[in-house]
Amino acid sequence: MTAEALATEQPDNVDMGELAPYAGGPRLTDAESRHGAVSLTWADGTRADFPLMWLRDHCACAQCRHPRTRERLVRIIDLPETLPEPAVTLTASGALHLEWPAMSGFNVHESLFDAGWLYQRADAYRADPLDVDRKIPWTSAIADALPVADHHAFMHTEAGLCDWLQALDRYGFALLRNGPTEPGEVIRVAERVGWPRETNFGRHFDVVSMPDPNNAAYTAVALEPHVDLPNWQRPPDFQLLYCLANEAEGGESTLTDGLAVAWALRDRDPDAYRILTETRIDFRFQDENADIHYRGPVIGCDDNGNPSVLRFNNWIRDTLRLPAAEVDGFYRAYRRFWGMLRDPAWTLRFMLRPGEMIAFDNLRVLHGRDTFDPNTGHRHLQGTYLDRDLIRSRQRVLERATA
Ligand SMILES: [Fe+2]
Repeated sequence: MTAEALATEQPDNVDMGELAPYAGGPRLTDAESRHGAVSLTWADGTRADFPLMWLRDHCACAQCRHPRTRERLVRIIDLPETLPEPAVTLTASGALHLEWPAMSGFNVHESLFDAGWLYQRADAYRADPLDVDRKIPWTSAIADALPVADHHAFMHTEAGLCDWLQALDRYGFALLRNGPTEPGEVIRVAERVGWPRETNFGRHFDVVSMPDPNNAAYTAVALEPHVDLPNWQRPPDFQLLYCLANEAEGGESTLTDGLAVAWALRDRDPDAYRILTETRIDFRFQDENADIHYRGPVIGCDDNGNPSVLRFNNWIRDTLRLPAAEVDGFYRAYRRFWGMLRDPAWTLRFMLRPGEMIAFDNLRVLHGRDTFDPNTGHRHLQGTYLDRDLIRSRQRVLERATA
C-alpha cells in the first residue's frame, strides 16, 4: 500500500513497551511484504527490510510483551521455523499493522508497530539511541570552561542532576560547588545517583595523610596520573572525591583525558600504541587482608578497535612478566604514554576547595595530585565509587522528560 491511505495529522503513538523516547521520527510512507521480510519506507527516504521472524519476535501486544514489566513473553521457539507471510497495512495513524495467518497450533495474530520505534531500529549498524557515544575529548584548555554544577541544584532539582550527569558523560568529569563540609556528604551525593560501590577500601574512603598507610593516596606524596584499582577485573567506573578541608600548602588536583591522550598516541607513535593495546601486564594490590590481581592491557579497546578503558597506575603495577625480547619495547611504549599523560598541555590543574566535589570516569580520565605539606594545615577528602550502569540509568530516566 502507499502513502495515499495515510492521515495527515500527527500519528498516534503505539505503546511498544519501551520507555525511551521513540516518537517524532519521519512517517512511514510505504510497507510491503517481500521475500520473507517487510520492506518499509519512511518520508525521509530511509528504507529497511525487517525479516518476518524479527517482526514476530518484537511484537509488542499484551500477549507478546508483558504490559507492566515490558519484558518479552513471545517465545519464537514455539513458532514454525518459517513463518507464513502476514497481511501488511499502514494504519490511518501511520503505524505498521501485520496480521499473521493462523498456523498449526496458533490463531490469527495481530501486531502493531510504531513508525518511530521501527525507524530507530531501521539500521542494525546505526548507533543504539540508548548508547550514543557523546564523549568530547579535551586538553588543559578546558580550565576556561569547567563542567560545574551547584550542589543545591544537583541535590534538589532534576534539571541540576541531569545537567551534571550529561557533563560527566561528555567530558568524563564534572565538578560540584557550594556544598556543605559535613563528613559523609560524598555518600549522600552518590545516593542521589544510585548507591556506592564498595571496595576493599570500604563504602567510602578518607584521603588524608596517615602514619601507617596501605596506599599512596594516604600519604602526602605527589600522585602521578592514574586510574584507581586497575588490579580489579572490574575496576570502579566512576570516582567521587569530596573536599572537606584543604588548608595544607600544595596538593593541587590534576585530571587528564586519558582517551584523548591514547588517540594522540595512536597518531604520533603507532608502535607504542600497538604494544600498549596488545600487551597484557599484571596489576596487584596486597596488604594484610587482601591480594587482588588482574592482568590486562594498559589501553583496552572496544569492538571497533578504539581505546575505551585505561589501566594506568604505576604503583600497583606488579612484576612485569613478559618474554625478554618484549621488555625493552614495552618500557619504551609505557614511558612514551606516561610522558604524554603528564604533559601540561593535556593536564587540567585545579585546587579542590572545601565543599567542592570532583567526579570522574575512572577508566577514561586519569587523576593525580601534587605533593602537599601536611604540617601546614589539614587536608581531608572523602571518596567513593559508582557503577556506570547506575549513572547511565539515572541519566536515561531523566532524559525521557527532556527528549
Ligand atoms: Fe586515586
